[in-house]
Amino acid sequence: MIRLICNSLCIFTVLAVTPMSGHAQVDYDHLAPTPPMGWNSWNAFHKDIDEVKIRAIADAMVKSGMREAGYRYLVLDDAWMADRRDEEGRLQGDPDRFPSGMKALGDYIHGRGLQYGLYECRATKTCQGLPGLLGHERQDIDTFAAWGVDYLKIDSCFAELNGRLSSQDYALLKRCIIASGRPMVLSISDFGQGAWAWGGAELAHLWRTSGDIYPFMQSVYNHADSSAGDLMIHPAFNGLWQFAGPGHWNDPDMLEVGNLKTAAEDKVHFSLWCILAAPLMAGNDLRNMTDTTRAILTAKEVIQVNQDPRGVQGYKVFDDGDHEVYNKPLCDGTTAVLLLNKGKTVADVQVTWDQLGLRGAQPVRDLWARKDLGTFATGFTATNLQRHEHRLLKVGTPGAPLVRTPPPLPPERYTVTRKGTTYLSDLCCIWKNGPIPLSDRTAHNTPIVLSGTVFKKGLGCTAASKVMYQLNGVAGRFQSTVGLDEDAPDDATGRFRVWHEDHFGRAVLFDSGPMHKGDAPQAVDVSVAHVNCLLLTFENAQGRRSKVQGLTGVWADARVIATNLANSANHK
Ligand code: GLA
Repeated sequence: MIRLICNSLCIFTVLAVTPMSGHAQVDYDHLAPTPPMGWNSWNAFHKDIDEVKIRAIADAMVKSGMREAGYRYLVLDDAWMADRRDEEGRLQGDPDRFPSGMKALGDYIHGRGLQYGLYECRATKTCQGLPGLLGHERQDIDTFAAWGVDYLKIDSCFAELNGRLSSQDYALLKRCIIASGRPMVLSISDFGQGAWAWGGAELAHLWRTSGDIYPFMQSVYNHADSSAGDLMIHPAFNGLWQFAGPGHWNDPDMLEVGNLKTAAEDKVHFSLWCILAAPLMAGNDLRNMTDTTRAILTAKEVIQVNQDPRGVQGYKVFDDGDHEVYNKPLCDGTTAVLLLNKGKTVADVQVTWDQLGLRGAQPVRDLWARKDLGTFATGFTATNLQRHEHRLLKVGTPGAPLVRTPPPLPPERYTVTRKGTTYLSDLCCIWKNGPIPLSDRTAHNTPIVLSGTVFKKGLGCTAASKVMYQLNGVAGRFQSTVGLDEDAPDDATGRFRVWHEDHFGRAVLFDSGPMHKGDAPQAVDVSVAHVNCLLLTFENAQGRRSKVQGLTGVWADARVIATNLANSANHK
């Protein structure tokens, strides 16, 4: 509680950012009507960047047709900055690698008809140990504005030392951008810790849904699933599609197109990002890309799927583990459909018009082949798809009524909408890491029993788990009884913690400390007034994931009690 008060006071002070007089109004909410497109230095070069290279990339973006195809932002990732600030505390470019300075580089980029992006981190240091923004937010964003920066990727390494919630950090940055008078797209880089739940759409234009991508197919598929599958959220949501839309996008990380093993792999990666309405930040060395890579990255009809102004994120209509079908309804009454074979054997992958919400015969166009395939009565089958092969289709007649999306998961399924008691086991979690605890039973599928008391409701952990629930700031208290269930092995241990928002805020509302089988259960009763997102973690006695023994930790009767539904803790 003390921690919370401190958090609010600190934030009250730091958030008091006054707009600079005479500056133009920043139309912050309309900076990314479609997913941002550009190039970022990290996947191609990591720390090895300098102004000669970056200028060559700017030239290549123009010469290769990337700019023409829509790639606008040229973003320098980590390691552009000097290892210390100047005598006035200002950030500066690394003097050896950027001797002309960061403003001059921005001018060069703008001179090529491109926009200028920079990376920073919201902590004292960046992931590479260079100066971070903490304590200098206003000064640094004004510096970026003076350099002509148009896009900011803000990372989260070391942010758990900030003493602020993630939503507070990003709210401050948003205010600084608006106060600077210069429009800058804000990209939340937090390794996918639930920004879609705690304020991504209000605070930023895109937010990561995952850790870092690597150039191999399993990584590409996992990252796609962080946005389209149930890697990060309860399966009832069918992915994160309902959180994206014009102005704010789920970001499964930057592209590895051109860095994968084959053109087929590059293509499926690109199609996945396009159907997912993901930001398209190329991550290959544009100075020497092959014609094949260039053709993939600039494929017009494929990019149009990504940039469709309706802004629906594609969602899966079929997934059996090896084969997937995605649907992305477009603004002209047609819909984009992706049929994918991830399996080891050659396969046919089929879609029926029913699955897409279409009736009657439909024309089909192959978007990679740029070829009309004819009209099909009830569906379409992509035959003989090799492993990692896919088809990207446009189905339907332009001008037809809009293809409808399925209804999003309604708020009563995942947040507090009623006065009185809401059991968390009746809600779908909005973020997760590890298996979702079972509702109202233990890992052994038995009723929850602690010290001889049977609990009808509660969460039964089957392994170490972290689950976040969205309370919307309307609940007053969180209550539960925690302990190792009677069915737990005799040497079972565990530690239960309740957090305000993600772990970066380190705002721990309850900590059971190490618990052992047979210990008396502990009662939890904490205030969650103004808590937008509540995180429950169950880990081993040391609070770590490794060597977890207490597989039957239970949050008995885990519930929140709402007295006043009028509040909302969303950070605008
Ligand atoms: C983190 C981010 C990456 C990249 C590196 C730079 O790992 O997730 O995208 O920015 O930092 O250090």
